[in-house]
Amino acid sequence: QAYNEKESLYIALNFAKTFFHENLQSGEGKSIGLSYLKERGFDMATIEKFELGYSLDGWDHLLNKARTSGFEETNLLKAGLILERENKPGNYYDRFRGRVMFPIHNLSGKPIAFGARIMTQDKKQPKYINSPETAIYHKSDVLYGIYQAKQAIRQKENCYLVEGYTDVISMHLAGVENVVASSGTSLTENQIKLIKRFTDQVTVLYDGDDAGINASLRGIDMLLEGGLNVKAVVFPPNEDPDSFSRKAGKEGFQKFLEAEEKDFIHFKIDLFTKGAADDPIKKAEAIRQVVLSISKVPDPIIRSVYAKESARLLGMEEDILLTELNRQLLKNQ
Ligand code: GTP
Ligand code: MN
Ligand code: MN
Ligand code: MN
Ligand code: MN
Repeated sequence: QAYNEKESLYIALNFAKTFFHENLQSGEGKSIGLSYLKERGFDMATIEKFELGYSLDGWDHLLNKARTSGFEETNLLKAGLILERENKPGNYYDRFRGRVMFPIHNLSGKPIAFGARIMTQDKKQPKYINSPETAIYHKSDVLYGIYQAKQAIRQKENCYLVEGYTDVISMHLAGVENVVASSGTSLTENQIKLIKRFTDQVTVLYDGDDAGINASLRGIDMLLEGGLNVKAVVFPPNEDPDSFSRKAGKEGFQKFLEAEEKDFIHFKIDLFTKGAADDPIKKAEAIRQVVLSISKVPDPIIRSVYAKESARLLGMEEDILLTELNRQLLKNQ
């Protein structure tokens, strides 16, 4: 064998990506897959940019095509593209069937995995399925869209962080290209390190539902712990960057981002005092929440800048806030 194991997985993934993408050109892939993508507002240029595709509805479309092209089943299995039938050793079938395919690229633009969305409302099947962990795909090290975003992140000196594949794609359509997705999992240290290679400023854009708010709160603290400068935007209830950008339009969306962006201190104060800034119990909770986040910041100088700013915003004595901060810092140890 001329190729080592990882190299052969890259080749298999690339083959699958091309197959899925070409499926959009005719037949079922065109009438179902391409129509779905177009209905979501994705144009051809965007479909090409993200190399989107469609996996045909059947048990062995990719498997047969790959076999014919000389791929070995063990290789396809290790690449996460096929599965072995239970109680039937040596008998394989396609992992991805009848789904719109989102290749997940590494930093150099090679596909290393897929996210795959079902197009029906079938509640018995998960909306998205993903490639398993493989020798070339470690979910917790990857950010969707990083390859398409890295230049813009450097240029804008900021990275938008969203939840989903379609949020990334719709934001490109709305003219915002410095965006990556955590793909529905909680943010990891390695993902934060990856962002830090390009910028030290992140704006969290999670969905406008309770799950999204809670994920934002966790994400903000992790990013602060990673030494990043953190902002957030709250979307209206039940909107995500994808749905909202289509409603608001390109210009409206960009204006919304500018207008609604808050640093993490304002984000938390507004969230925890919601509509009752004078309620002492809510205000106390907001203070504790803000202090909790500040206590994650590793740099003591930046921490004291945040503490000063928060005391001012909350209209309280800095000493009291610092006392609470020191208490929290001891607790964190
Ligand atoms: P659309 O409905 O296509 O707009 O997707 P979305 O990105 O808005 O989905 P959602 O907000 O529900 O979830 C955010 C991200 O979590 C998705 O992009 C996926 O990466 C992931 N996700 C959502 N549902 C599932 C699921 O059923 N299984 C898995 N493995 N991941 C999911
Ligand atoms: Mn093409
Ligand atoms: Mn959601
Ligand atoms: Mn969403
Ligand atoms: Mn969505």
